[in-house]
Amino acid sequence: MAKKGKKSGEELFEEYYASRWEERWDSLKASLFEEVSHYSLTENLEQAYYLDEASLYPPKELDVQEGESVLDMCAAPGGKSLILATTLKGSGSLTVNDLSPDRRRRLRQVMENHLRPEWQGNIRYTGYDGSLWYRHEPDWYDKILLDAPCSSERHVLNSPEHLKKWTPGRIKSLAPRQFALLCSALETVKPGGLIVYSTCALAAEENDLIIERLHKKRKGRFTVEPTLFTAGEETRYGRHILPDRDGAGPIYYCRIRRLS
Ligand SMILES: C[S@@+](CC[C@H](N)C(=O)[O-])C[C@H]1O[C@@H](n2cnc3c(N)ncnc32)[C@H](O)[C@@H]1O
Repeated sequence: MAKKGKKSGEELFEEYYASRWEERWDSLKASLFEEVSHYSLTENLEQAYYLDEASLYPPKELDVQEGESVLDMCAAPGGKSLILATTLKGSGSLTVNDLSPDRRRRLRQVMENHLRPEWQGNIRYTGYDGSLWYRHEPDWYDKILLDAPCSSERHVLNSPEHLKKWTPGRIKSLAPRQFALLCSALETVKPGGLIVYSTCALAAEENDLIIERLHKKRKGRFTVEPTLFTAGEETRYGRHILPDRDGAGPIYYCRIRRLS
C-alpha cells in the first residue's frame, strides 16, 4: 500500500496517461485489458508463430529485398526477425541481436524451431549493447530494425507488481536509452540505408519525441520517409496502431533514411 500522502503507482500511472489521452483514455485503457488477438504467422515457416497483428508492420516497413544486409538490433523473442528472415529467404545476411542472454536463448529457439533449415545459414546471433554498435560496424547495413525496449503499458497495466512500482521516471529513464540506440543505428546503417524505429509504447516521449530529438541533434543527417502502409493513425513522424480503434497494438513505427 502507498504511504499516506504518497501516490501509488496505479494513481501515478492513471494521472499520467489520463492527462495525455484525455477523453480517449478510458476506452484506450479498457482495450489494453482485452486479450491480444494473435495473428498466426505461417507463410514459409515450419510451424506457426503467434504475434500481435500490429507487430507485422515494423518489419514490413523495412521493405527488405533479397541479398540485403539487415540488422535486427533488439530482436528477442524474435517474431519480427522471423518476418525479416522469410523475406531474405537465406540470401544476404541477417544479424539478430539482443542484450539479454535469457531472451537471446529464446530468440535462437524461435528461429531454429520455426525457420526452414535452408534459410538459417545467413543468420548471425549476437548479444551486444545496440547503443554501442556504431563503434564496431559503422556504415555497415542496408537496413536496420530498431524495435526498442519501451514502457509496454499493456504489460504494466496487466501486472499488479509492475503497476505498483510505476512512476513517470520509467519513461524518463527509457527515452535516453531509446535515443542512444537510434543514434547508434543511424551511424551503423549505410549512407542511403533505412532504419525502422518501433516501440509498443503509448507515450509520445518514446515515439515521436525521440524522432523530434533526432531532428535537433542530427540535423541534415536523415530524412523521415512516408510509411508504406496506412495501418493505425498518422502521427507527426510515423504511425501508431492502437487497440481501442484497431483491435491490435500498441505499436508505433517510423521510417528513417540516412542521408550522409
Ligand atoms: C521490444 S523487445 C524486442 C521484441 C522483438 N523485436 C520481437 O519482435 O520479438 C526489446 C528487446 O531489446 C532488448 N534490449 C534492451 N536493451 C538493449 C540494448 N541496449 N541493446 C540490445 N538489446 C537491448 C531487450 O532484451 C528486449 O528483448
